[in-house]
Amino acid sequence: MYTRIMEVDPWVIKSTTLDKTHKRLQESLTSLGNGYMGARGSFEERYSADSHLGTYIAGVWFPDKTRVGWWKNGYPKYFGKAINAVNFGKVAIFVDNQEVDLAENEVSGFSVALDMQTGVLRRTFTVFGVQFCLTKFFSVAQKELALMRWDVVSADGKSHHVKIESFIDADVKNEDANYEETFWQVLNKKAFAGGAHIAAQTVANPFGVPQFIVNAQQSFAGDFTETAHWQGDWQVSNTFEAEVGEAVKSFEKRVIVTTSRDYENLDAVEAAGRALIADMEQAGFADLLAAHENGWRQRWAIADVVIEGNDAAQQGIRFNLFQLFSTYYGEDARLNIGPKGFTGEKYGGATYWDTEAYAVPLYLSLAEPQVTENLLKYRHNQLPQAQHNAREQGLAGALYPMVTFTGIECHNEWEITFEEIHRNGAIAYAIYNYTNYTGDEGYLAGEGLEVLVEIARFWADRVHYSQRHGKYMIHGVTGPNEYENNINNNWYTNTLAAWVLGYTKAALDKYPRPDLGISEAELDKWADIVANMYYPYDEVLDVFVQHDGFLDKDIRPVSALSPDDLPLNQKWSWDKILRSPFIKQADVLQGVYFFGDRFDIDTKRRNFDFYEPMTVHESSLSASVHAILAAELGKEEKAVEMYERTARLDLDNYNNDTEDGLHITSMTGSWLAIVQGFAQMKTWGGTLSFAPFLPQAWTAYAFHINYRGRLLKVSVNKQVEIALLKGSPIALEVYGEPVQLESVYTTALKTQGA
Ligand code: BGC
Repeated sequence: MYTRIMEVDPWVIKSTTLDKTHKRLQESLTSLGNGYMGARGSFEERYSADSHLGTYIAGVWFPDKTRVGWWKNGYPKYFGKAINAVNFGKVAIFVDNQEVDLAENEVSGFSVALDMQTGVLRRTFTVFGVQFCLTKFFSVAQKELALMRWDVVSADGKSHHVKIESFIDADVKNEDANYEETFWQVLNKKAFAGGAHIAAQTVANPFGVPQFIVNAQQSFAGDFTETAHWQGDWQVSNTFEAEVGEAVKSFEKRVIVTTSRDYENLDAVEAAGRALIADMEQAGFADLLAAHENGWRQRWAIADVVIEGNDAAQQGIRFNLFQLFSTYYGEDARLNIGPKGFTGEKYGGATYWDTEAYAVPLYLSLAEPQVTENLLKYRHNQLPQAQHNAREQGLAGALYPMVTFTGIECHNEWEITFEEIHRNGAIAYAIYNYTNYTGDEGYLAGEGLEVLVEIARFWADRVHYSQRHGKYMIHGVTGPNEYENNINNNWYTNTLAAWVLGYTKAALDKYPRPDLGISEAELDKWADIVANMYYPYDEVLDVFVQHDGFLDKDIRPVSALSPDDLPLNQKWSWDKILRSPFIKQADVLQGVYFFGDRFDIDTKRRNFDFYEPMTVHESSLSASVHAILAAELGKEEKAVEMYERTARLDLDNYNNDTEDGLHITSMTGSWLAIVQGFAQMKTWGGTLSFAPFLPQAWTAYAFHINYRGRLLKVSVNKQVEIALLKGSPIALEVYGEPVQLESVYTTALKTQGA
C-alpha cells in the first residue's frame, strides 16, 4: 500500500492541495537543504494544526541522556541527536489586521512546487483577498544563506493592508527528546532597524561533547516599509507593512547562519554573520538566485539520470539525487550522511554503515575521488573512538559504531549496539571499493591499512573456536536483518569477518607496515581464521544459511501473509517478528552483492530465489540490492518492482513513515538500481563492464559516471552507446566482449536471455 500526495512530473514535486491530513508527509517531501543546513517544508506562516517544524544544521547535535528501562553494562551513556535548530523562517502575516493562519482560514489557489532542477521551492496561496507567492531556497553558492521572498498582490481588486512580522525563534525542541528537555539556550540577541539576530548555544552536557553556537541573522529587501522591531526572551523580530493593490509588492527575508563549527567563539560567529549579511546587501535577489540555480545546474550536468517513457520513474530518481545532494555534496570533510538529513530527527546520529555500503558507490561515480576519500578519512579520524568502543565491549582492535557523530557509539539498543557488528566489515569493504574503483592504492597503503588492521584485530578477537566443529564461529550477533537478534553464525557477518582478515593480510604483504606492530602470531591467527571459518550452508537447498537454525523456522513466503499484516513492524508484536522467517532487508544477499565476483550465477539465483520471497523490504536499504541482483539474474519484472520501490519509497510513502522525514541514506538506491542493476555496471577485478537491459516500460535511459579520470556517458535505448566525454581511451567489457573505448562505442541492446 502506498500514499502518493504529490503529482508526477519529471522535474517538479508539486501539489495544489493544502493537505491537512498528510501535512507532515508533504513537509518531508518539500524539504530543502544545501549540505550546510536545511529544513522541512513546514510553512513559514502560521499553521496552527499538526505540523512538524524542523530546521537542522549539519554537524550541530546534542548528546541526549540515554533512556532505558533496565541499564545494562556497556550501554552508551547518550544518544546523539541531530537537533532541531533556531527557526529562522518564521513569519506572522496580517491582512487588514487579521492574522493569517493557514490551518484555520479559508485558503484558495494553494500550490506548492519544488523545482529540483534549480533547488527552488515556490508556494502560493490566497487568503483574505490577497495572494502570496513564496520563493525559497538554501543557497548552494553561499552555504550560510537562506532566502525567502513573498510576492504579494491583491486577488480581489481591493487594496489591503499587509503586515509581515519576521522572526528568528530559538524556542525550539526536538519532538523525541528523551526527557523532554530543551537543548538550546539564548546567548545573545538583538533586534534593530533593518535586522535582528539571535545566537543560541546548546546547553551544557555531562559527556564532554562540545557545545555548539548557532547565530541566525536576518536582513530584508523589497517593497515593504519597516515599522517596528522587537526582542523577547527567545525571539527577535522585525515588522514590515505595505498597502497592497494590483501591483505586486515583494517582501524579502535574507538569513545568514553561522556556527561555532566554523568560528571559534561567540564574537567570531556573530562577526562572521554580520560580515556575510553586509556582503549580501550588495547583491540583488536575482543575482543570489542565479548563483544558486547555477550551482544546481552544474550538479545535474554530471549527476542527472534521464529516463524516457516513464515520468514516475524519472521523478523518483531525480528526487533521490536532489535530496541526497541537498544533504551531502562532499564539501565539508568533517560531515557525513545522516539517515534523515535535514528532513527529520527520528533517527539519531549522522553516520551509519549506510554510508560505506550504499553511498560510497554512488559518490565514487558522481563526484571527484576526493569526496569518497574524505568519507574514508572521516572513519580514520574516528579510529581512537572506534578502539574505545571495542574496549567497552572487552575486545581488541576497533569497533566502528552503528550510530555516531564522533566515532563513539551513541545508540543503546542491545541488539544494535552490541550485536550488529557486521557494520565493522562494511567500513573495511569501502576501503576495498575505493581502491578497486579508483585504482589508487595510496589510501589503502597509508591510512586505509591503519583502519583495516584495527578492524581485523577486532574480528580476530570476536570469533571463537568451536572445538567440536574445528571451526571459527561468531555467536550472538544481529545481521543486517534486524528482524532476528542474538543469532549464531550469521553467514553474512562470518563471510565479511573472514574477508576483512584475508584482505588486510594481503594488503600488508603488499604494503608492509612495521609501524603497526603486527606480530607473526597475529598474522598466523588471521590466516587460520580465514582457512577455518564456519559458513552455514544447506546441502539439500544448496543455499547459504542466514544463520544457524534459520531453516528450522516456519519457512514461508511473504505472499502467504494477508496484506493486513504489512508492514510487519507496524502490525506485529516484536516477539512475533523475531520468531518469523521474514527478513527486513538483504542479509545473505547483501554478501552475495558485495562479493559478486566470487559466486557463479546459479549460486546467486538459488540464494535470491530462496531469500527474496521471505523479504519484506521494511528497511529502505533493501530494495536496491535486490534490484541489482534481480537485474543480473534476468528477473526484469522484479528488478523494476524493486527500482520503483527504492526510487519512489518516499514519494509514495511505501513504508508509511515518510512523515518522520526522508530516507536519505537509501536515496542512492535508485541510482544503484539503474547503474549497477539495469546497466549492470561492474568493476570486478578492476575492469569496468556493462551489460545493460532496458525495462519494458521505458524507452530509454542515460547516465554519466566518473571512472579513473574519465567521464563516460552511457545511453541505453534500442542500442547501447558508451561515449568517452573526457579522459584517455579505456578498455572495457560490454556484454562480456572486450571494447577499447576511444570516443563512442555502440552496440545493439541485448534483450534478457539473449
Ligand atoms: C536498517 C539499518 C540502517 C538504519 C539507518 C535501519 O532500519 O535496518 O540497516 O543502518 O535503518 O538507515
